[in-house]
Amino acid sequence: MKILFTRLIQSPLLEQIPKEYEVVMWEEENKIMPRNELLKEVSDADAIFANLTDRLDSEFFEHAKKLKIISTMAVGFDNIDLQEATKRGIPVGHTPDVLSEAVAELALTLMFACARRVVESMQFIRENKWESWGPYLFAGQKISGAKLGIIGMGRIGKILAKQAKALNMEVVYANRRRDEETEKALNVQFRDLDSLLKESDYVVMLAPASEETYHIMGYREFSLMKATSIFVNVSRGSTVDEEALYKVLSEHGIFAAGLDVFEIEPIQKDHPLLSLDNVIAVPHIGSATKETRDKMVEIALKNIFNGLNNEQLLYTVNE
Ligand code: DGY
Repeated sequence: MKILFTRLIQSPLLEQIPKEYEVVMWEEENKIMPRNELLKEVSDADAIFANLTDRLDSEFFEHAKKLKIISTMAVGFDNIDLQEATKRGIPVGHTPDVLSEAVAELALTLMFACARRVVESMQFIRENKWESWGPYLFAGQKISGAKLGIIGMGRIGKILAKQAKALNMEVVYANRRRDEETEKALNVQFRDLDSLLKESDYVVMLAPASEETYHIMGYREFSLMKATSIFVNVSRGSTVDEEALYKVLSEHGIFAAGLDVFEIEPIQKDHPLLSLDNVIAVPHIGSATKETRDKMVEIALKNIFNGLNNEQLLYTVNE
């Protein structure tokens, strides 16, 4: 049996891999396994420990002749041709739940950082521009008591709603389906997208990438938001039309945006969004706490072992 790891994973859990298994790992830290290597190495692999940066498309599946299990160390799986995997009877495992708190915490981090203009303020100090305390110097927005609109009320959305309630926020959500149980349990209210955008002081994108959610935030949608409101994306870049976001931010149609994800990752240094003071951008670190990543590795490995042993995966997206 051969297990292919497309990224360097350094974890004592790897010692659990039976000695008779062959392990092939791409060992360049924080670098993607080159496409030709991936296609070559997957050709005789039984299992793949993949990541959200790997494109598992029809070309990949043509090479993956022996593959029995795909395990991605992520909650999102829009990089995987699920139909093709299912057609070939390959279970696809992912790692939800264990990362929900971390991703929700990053959403809050970006909300706070945008609201209180933290990055801009630090830059101001670095540039030695601080002359004295000012009555409205870097005056921003308040979070406590404000209204949060969550687009996509799944696992992460529910955790974020709970965290926001602790900050005395009112929470509304837009979702494909209304979820009355969650409304009662968390004291949140359902809205259509337009109403949510009009009412909310903070809008957090948590809807997964799909054809349906492609560019659901365009210029029309951003224009519905208040000039004082803040947009945060910790889901996938494809949900946002970045040109539209740039336009609305430059026109001060909204107060700021906190972005963990981008249409093309890595976002390039000369991207117009990065030239704006009212943008805070971080490099797709939603689930990046040590503890969370350890748990994601644990689940992704367990999914591999279960898959190779023809057992039910801990979390699967196509069964
Ligand atoms: C995932 O795992 O899909 C998320 O992007 C984590 O940030």
